[in-house]
Amino acid sequence: MTRPLNVGVAGLGTVGAGVLTLLRQNADLIAARAGRPIAVTAVAARDRKRDRGISLDGLRWYDDAAALASDSGVDVVVELIGGSDGPAKALVEAALAAGKPVVTANKALLALHGAALAEQAEANNASLAFEAAVAGGIPAIKGLREGLAANRIARVTGILNGTCNYILTCMRDQGREFADVLAEAQKLGYAEADPSFDIDGVDAAHKLAILAALAFGRPVEFDAVHVEGIRHISALDIKLAEELGYRIKLLGIAAQVDGGISTRVHPCMVPVSHPIAVVDGVYNAVVAEGDFVGRVVLEGRGAGAGPTASAVVADLIDVARGRSTPVWGAGSAALAKTPSVPMAQNRGAYYLRLMVVDRPGVVAEITGVLRDHSISLESMIQRGRAPGEAVPIVLTTHDCQEASMRAALERIAALDSVLETPALIRIETL
Ligand SMILES: NC(=O)c1ccc[n+]([C@@H]2O[C@H](COP(=O)([O-])OP(=O)(O)OC[C@H]3O[C@@H](n4cnc5c(N)ncnc54)[C@H](OP(=O)(O)O)[C@@H]3O)[C@@H](O)[C@H]2O)c1
Repeated sequence: MTRPLNVGVAGLGTVGAGVLTLLRQNADLIAARAGRPIAVTAVAARDRKRDRGISLDGLRWYDDAAALASDSGVDVVVELIGGSDGPAKALVEAALAAGKPVVTANKALLALHGAALAEQAEANNASLAFEAAVAGGIPAIKGLREGLAANRIARVTGILNGTCNYILTCMRDQGREFADVLAEAQKLGYAEADPSFDIDGVDAAHKLAILAALAFGRPVEFDAVHVEGIRHISALDIKLAEELGYRIKLLGIAAQVDGGISTRVHPCMVPVSHPIAVVDGVYNAVVAEGDFVGRVVLEGRGAGAGPTASAVVADLIDVARGRSTPVWGAGSAALAKTPSVPMAQNRGAYYLRLMVVDRPGVVAEITGVLRDHSISLESMIQRGRAPGEAVPIVLTTHDCQEASMRAALERIAALDSVLETPALIRIETL
């Protein structure tokens, strides 16, 4: 029989245990597709005694994950520890230095150190695969990098964080506030005890930085991504969005614009008719627009043991077959130096909700500020009548520049008649 591909797995948490289970459960099918069996021979984690619900009998155990790189019985290293630095980075660097292929699910590592790691992989003629790092079980990396390789990509848009999408979906369906839904999501295990990476948009930004590098063939640039999360989204804004024909989604958007590439993660209002508007709950979606292919929509589960293991094992099958592609689609020397365009230069339409005192002249004051900054209105809704009390005013604008909107908003927020911090949400017609 053909020699098996011997795998060392570092990290035996949700994803690591899922990978071992999948490799065992679908061993025959995987061997047929890989052209040879794929066998885990060694593992590393912190706590040897922990019950992981899987048998580790017959596998070599390492407390020091980096030791997998020098184990002669390991052909390929799978890094499932997580974190942009520390043991995950040390292991990946050690494996590549030893000329061993690496498979990882680690978006933080790729987003922050992907350029240097790609160079190291090339120098050592070792592959570095990371299908599981973006949108879990959705083959987004392969789809974009290989499937759409012939296209100039104009834009990639994604729902890239299942926790945020789940929270926003519950808020809409049940009319509940953010903090309430977050607390429940934590109880159900859909949100981490420290949820900030997810709800503040950082996790989605890691993934968007990776997608942008692939889509536009340039070095990964996490620091250029504008990042906002969903903490400030209220049930009222979700309801008003529906009335205007929009859904609120946390989107990552990477686009070719005048002057370069813009990359941003923030809540958006998207038309209910767009395919991304109906991607609900823990589901993720990636939408790519290519010059020859047009719009391509991929949807599926973005996290969890099964979907993530599915992507990791697909990468292992590529390694077993000897299939490899440069990390960022083209070799490091061939990547473009396209600049990043700052958020202040972004152009788009806005939804603005103000809680104002119900008295004559207030609307004129607000529209006067917008006029001063050359911002024109698309629509205005004023709800309820409660003389002397707070009432919502909802404004939507035509396309204008982010810098102008920010400057106008600062002045509007300072008006005596405006009683709460204004809610600003960008409208994306996509
Ligand atoms: N969970 C998902 O749905 C998902 C989806 C896509 C991508 N990912 C990515 O996949 C990776 C793993 O995520 P996960 O959810 O499986 O994490 P997890 O459940 O927290 O598991 C992490 C594993 O790493 C081990 N570990 C921690 N420090 C270590 C060290 N110094 N040396 C050796 N092992 C160490 C832990 O060992 P002990 O068990 O002994 O503590 C644990 O087994 C992350 O990069 C994550 O971003 C996860």
